[in-house]
Amino acid sequence: MDRIEIIGGNSLNGKIKISGSKNSALPIMAASLLTKDKISISNVPNLSDIKSMIELLKSLNVCVNFKSSKINLLSSTPKSLIGSYELVRKMRASFLIMGPLIAKYGKASVSLPGGCAIGTRPVNLHLDGLSKMGVKFKIDRGYVTGEIKGRLKGADIEMDQKSVGATENILMAATLAEGTTIIRNAACEPEISDLSNFLNKMGANIRGYGTNKIVIKGKQFLNGCSHKIMPDRIESGTFVLCVFGCSGEIKLENVNNEICMHLLKIFRQLKTLKLTILDKGRCLLIKKTKNEDISLKIETNEYPGFPTDLQAQLTSSLLKTKGISEITENIFENRFMHISELIRMGANLNQIGSKVIVTESKNLKGAELMATDLRASSSLVIAGLMAKGKTTINRVYHLDRGYENLEKKLRQCGAKIRRIKS
Ligand code: UD1
Repeated sequence: MDRIEIIGGNSLNGKIKISGSKNSALPIMAASLLTKDKISISNVPNLSDIKSMIELLKSLNVCVNFKSSKINLLSSTPKSLIGSYELVRKMRASFLIMGPLIAKYGKASVSLPGGCAIGTRPVNLHLDGLSKMGVKFKIDRGYVTGEIKGRLKGADIEMDQKSVGATENILMAATLAEGTTIIRNAACEPEISDLSNFLNKMGANIRGYGTNKIVIKGKQFLNGCSHKIMPDRIESGTFVLCVFGCSGEIKLENVNNEICMHLLKIFRQLKTLKLTILDKGRCLLIKKTKNEDISLKIETNEYPGFPTDLQAQLTSSLLKTKGISEITENIFENRFMHISELIRMGANLNQIGSKVIVTESKNLKGAELMATDLRASSSLVIAGLMAKGKTTINRVYHLDRGYENLEKKLRQCGAKIRRIKS
């Protein structure tokens, strides 16, 4: 297994090109199952999660060609409508094939994604929504099988809780349903808007995305289309926090105005960080020089709140600030796997239930660490860049799930970071 070695202490200066969004590309790829026409997607990040989705789609008779951040997909009737355990267990987003397969072929059997390092993450909301559209589900030997005779029926669906994946699964299914579907209390993350824009290019009729009420008028068929994936806002936010932790000045390229505005909003409490939007929102300049006292209180929340996917990185980036900060995780019940690793580096952290208290860590030192999940891993990278001496991070395959060329992007800004191949 590869490892990452970091020699900490450098400030970061330079330019970084942000990749396409993983969380937008995955559902859009799953949506290719809704048509037998050709789909072309550009700005696709080269990540192991994308490769997992490609393998899954290939197993469902989709012809996939991935080259230089472009994917062409051409779906034919699958020989079997099964998302196997071997392919689904690697990535929870695999469950997003459920809605499209049932909508197009009337049946799907998908392995339950199972437990996850950041919490239990059930799929009840996905199944509740699809059941309201007439799907009958049964669970047997770790597989969920959903079936409907004829077309899905448009329905008025009130989600008990906001869920990105469940909103996406129901939304994709509803594009081919008979009649109108309304999703109330829908998640409104920008990745859902990207998926909706893509589906509308395929001929779907979706309105209200980006708000909590999405209205979908079902169509009999969808056609092929081309689409460019939006920039990755979590990757962008991670680099903002790298600069906040290490100081310096970085220009993020290939972002968009919505992401810039979102980052400005969620990081407004980081008063010693200056964010400037450039080139009509296509670039963001991040600058941090001084290390002043700040005491923050930040809670993770659904969009447009502070993303849970940046909580771990925020914790690391605060380790050298002088105040006392409080970070509360509201989305996942166990998203603190990074805390014990950071404490091994000398971090002054105290976890109380769903809250972490961060106090200045004067003696942050490099150590041998274990990556546990995707975002926890990037928080260890940030801490390694801030710490004195050498940090080695093991199990970096977690990082490869969601960050394209992370070491290269940081190295070109002056970080001492390298991958040691096993
Ligand atoms: C997506 C993102 C992930 C992000 C998360 C929250 C992708 C591929 N992944 O994950 O990076 O951290 O949104 O922003 O886009 N829940 C249920 N029942 C369900 C579904 C969810 O109880 O059927 C709960 C979850 O356990 C969690 C909360 O709802 O506590 C939010 O989860 P959800 O928005 O569904 O996350 P994902 O779509 O899995």
